[in-house]
Amino acid sequence: MTASIIDGKAFAEKVRAGVAADVSALKAKHGVTPGLAVVIVGEDPASQVYVKNKVKQTADTGMNSFHFELPADTSEADLLARVEALNADPAVNGILVQLPLPKQIDEAKVIAAIDPAKDVDGFHVVNSGLLATGGRGLVPCTPLGCLLMLQDALGDLSGLKAVVVGRSNIVGKPMAQLLLDANCTVTIAHSRTKDLPGEVKAADIVVAAVGRPEMIKGDWIKPGATVIDVGINRIAAPEKGEGKTRLVGDVAYDEAATVAGRITPVPGGVGPMTIACLLRNTVTATCRQHRLD
Ligand code: GUN
Repeated sequence: MTASIIDGKAFAEKVRAGVAADVSALKAKHGVTPGLAVVIVGEDPASQVYVKNKVKQTADTGMNSFHFELPADTSEADLLARVEALNADPAVNGILVQLPLPKQIDEAKVIAAIDPAKDVDGFHVVNSGLLATGGRGLVPCTPLGCLLMLQDALGDLSGLKAVVVGRSNIVGKPMAQLLLDANCTVTIAHSRTKDLPGEVKAADIVVAAVGRPEMIKGDWIKPGATVIDVGINRIAAPEKGEGKTRLVGDVAYDEAATVAGRITPVPGGVGPMTIACLLRNTVTATCRQHRLD
């Protein structure tokens, strides 16, 4: 079998077009323009690329985009004061503080300081608690993007067996919760799982979010399964020349694509959907703040 490719880039474009239409309608009908504030502390090059994309795409969909670049030696108190100011600003409907933060700043404290109604990352305990208890909060962008791609590819997910490999607060745990809410039978596997290949082999849906390049092998995949690869790992690519690198996922793509029914590529799979869902969450947050939903 050769897997069909789930094109996250094309799907993200559709989601963004929907967001842009909603933004125009909010402006025309209610005089409301959603605003997203993105805060980055320091000069981590990968984070800077992500943030630039977020800021550009926010503006491209017609929203107000507020971008704050703070120096690497910013104190925790100064960052908390910035978050408080954004919480109080009615033009700001969504707040994203790019992670990781420099070591002098406690990430948990910063996440806890964000108004849960503006927490478009869905990382605040109020939002993770709402997700865990079936409430209406804001859902983390990467797992939300994975769920939308799965539903687009497979339709109703009821009764399917899903394995989530990885148990982070940002991806693994919320992903498992969303799949459970979609009526899947869910296993969360991780570094201490006894028979990881066996757990993966039993699954109709595999979501790989471990951050280890090409760890999940092709012969672990059940024939016809749907594979969502959240990993973005940069590895050496001597075949491209000395010192060159390339991006790979957590799944050994070439092997897995001969067994799976559907698979997301890296890059061009989950990555574009994460930003599209951030924009979608910003519109959702804006509507709720204005009691428009
Ligand atoms: N760093 C890497 N991914 C993310 C994300 O989704 N949100 C934030 N705030 N920081 C990140």
